[in-house]
Amino acid sequence: MPPSKTGIDVLLKEERIFHPPKDLVEQTHVKKWMDAHGIKTYEELLEKAKDLEWFWGEISKELVGWSKPYTKVLEWNPPWVKWFLGAEYNIVCDALDRHVKSWRKNKVAYIWEGEPGDREKLTYAELHGKVCQAANALKSLGVKKGDRVGIYLPMIPELPIAMLACAKIGALHSVVFSGFSAHALRDRVNDSEAKVVITCDGFYRRGKTVPLKKQTDEALQQAPSVEHVIVYKRTGGEVSWNEKRDLWWHEVVDGQKKTCETEILDANDFLYILYTSGTTGKPKGVVHAHGGYAVGTAFTLKWVFDLKDEDVWWCAADIGWVTGHSYIVYAPLILGVTSVLYEGAPDYPKPDRWWSIVERYGVTVLYTSPTSIRLFMRYGEEWPAKHDLSSLRLLGTVGEPINPEAWMWYYKHIGGERCPIMDTWWQTETGSFCISPLPITPLKPGSATRPLPGWTADVYDEEGKPLVNQGGNLVLLTPWPAMFRGLYKDPERYREVYWSKYPNVYLAGDVARIDRDGYFWIQGRADDVLNVAGHRIGNSEVESALVSHEAVAEAAVIGKPHEVKGEAIVAYVVLKRGVEPTEKLREELRGHVAREIGKLARPEEVWFVSDLPKTRSGKIMRRVVKAVVLGKPAGDISTLSNPEAVEEIGKAR
Ligand code: WTA
Repeated sequence: MPPSKTGIDVLLKEERIFHPPKDLVEQTHVKKWMDAHGIKTYEELLEKAKDLEWFWGEISKELVGWSKPYTKVLEWNPPWVKWFLGAEYNIVCDALDRHVKSWRKNKVAYIWEGEPGDREKLTYAELHGKVCQAANALKSLGVKKGDRVGIYLPMIPELPIAMLACAKIGALHSVVFSGFSAHALRDRVNDSEAKVVITCDGFYRRGKTVPLKKQTDEALQQAPSVEHVIVYKRTGGEVSWNEKRDLWWHEVVDGQKKTCETEILDANDFLYILYTSGTTGKPKGVVHAHGGYAVGTAFTLKWVFDLKDEDVWWCAADIGWVTGHSYIVYAPLILGVTSVLYEGAPDYPKPDRWWSIVERYGVTVLYTSPTSIRLFMRYGEEWPAKHDLSSLRLLGTVGEPINPEAWMWYYKHIGGERCPIMDTWWQTETGSFCISPLPITPLKPGSATRPLPGWTADVYDEEGKPLVNQGGNLVLLTPWPAMFRGLYKDPERYREVYWSKYPNVYLAGDVARIDRDGYFWIQGRADDVLNVAGHRIGNSEVESALVSHEAVAEAAVIGKPHEVKGEAIVAYVVLKRGVEPTEKLREELRGHVAREIGKLARPEEVWFVSDLPKTRSGKIMRRVVKAVVLGKPAGDISTLSNPEAVEEIGKAR
């Protein structure tokens, strides 16, 4: 697939187009589907797929088996959606139950590798047995359909097992990323009113153990809804024990029966809650439902990464984020593929850990983030070069815009200039890819290309007029099956955040540009949400963490471009009267944020100032702070009540 340079100026990187190899195109699911439906071109496919009821009805046939068929594909009462109405269903029927009755029974579902080097393979039958045991354990603790279960686990097989166990009995899981702090866990457990929390004693990260049970204990000091905590023994480290509340996983789960009836639900019943950052300090509880989510995630994985039974799929994300929910747990299991699951840090004990995993298991499709790619880029190509990566046939990225330089490095040094890169744009809210290439799409490095069949996206100006070749607000115009069903217990916020700017149109919160070929170039967040290492963190979340420290009166937090992480957090802090700004305090504040939210939110820089630029109504102008930090003109500062603060920001650095 040699680059064909169109246009005269070769310096314009976005002009490079990479055409997928012909023999690959012929073998793809999308091509075969088009042939079977008499569709000749991709344009024709996009056109046909605009008939959402027809398209999703057809697609659902090959992916899911309803317990009772639906009577209607779609009901769209903006902003509320229902898919596959009247169907009875549980996602676990397709993710597990179906496979154990087929030849896939003894196929490996997960190849797991712990950071210290422990390894385990779980077949579909073994996974099913363990899920049934965990489901029976939850039932024995009184967990019922509709109840919420908090899950605070690292990347060990018990994490997908616990999630599937909840789904099997119709309970909602609410997974909290194991890198989040006790406080973050407490807020999420309380918002979802979880009855049971599942955690472990600790886990391994860069050769050290992280004491997860200790953090759980701290979080649950103020969590009245929690009746029981199930603790999986991962490290064997010391833990404190609450006799009334705590139960060891091996005591409550391992003795259970290896069969458990799957609770058949309405296809629109809720599957899980996953919290994501918004522009206020309070995280948003994004809710997904069984039926549409199953169809949407399985479809996108099947078509975009073209997975076949012989593939070894590795989505190298953490299950604590939506990427792992959709593309490590649900979609790959529905498709019955073999997935890799890895516990630890990407560069531990050496920067070739990932490449040794690809080689050892013969990974064929790898999906990761630009941050990880840039990290490996920094270590140098000699690390992947030590390994045979010839098993790879497709690559993918997600989480933030990928700079063309990182794209080229990934393409060359990981993909051996042989593997097309699927740059997938999507969000916790969308549940599945929305804008993404298929393996038949000509690629432009740095562009997520075009909306998938079944989606309509556009870029609007402030008034809602479509823009061509100019940056504006990314919007989705029609509903899609894996679309979220609201924010947990907060319909008003759902309406306000996503549906109030343009009537009946989904506002993604990203800035994007559509080029003259209709390719989308995502430029980043439009709102006050940072993207650090591909993870969303609200500016205001970090600010409220800072202000919760006794020395701090006010704080303004902005993102600054960072070579590896995409964005780095920079904080300006006004101290309380009488508090001395010291180096020690600076470090303490960085540590404080890490404790309050999690290490990924630790500010890269903390600066002390006596005042922050504010409007006359007292609102901190982050835009102005950001401009100064980036060395750009501060813009219109006529609405500021204290223009002198702008100068101080510049001098503080
Ligand atoms: C960003 C992650 C550019 C975007 C699946 C979005 C991307 C946010 C891409 C969602 C991409 C995700 N190119 N930016 N391919 N994919 N983003 O909810 O800003 O953790 O709004 O979901 O990540 O992050 P979330």
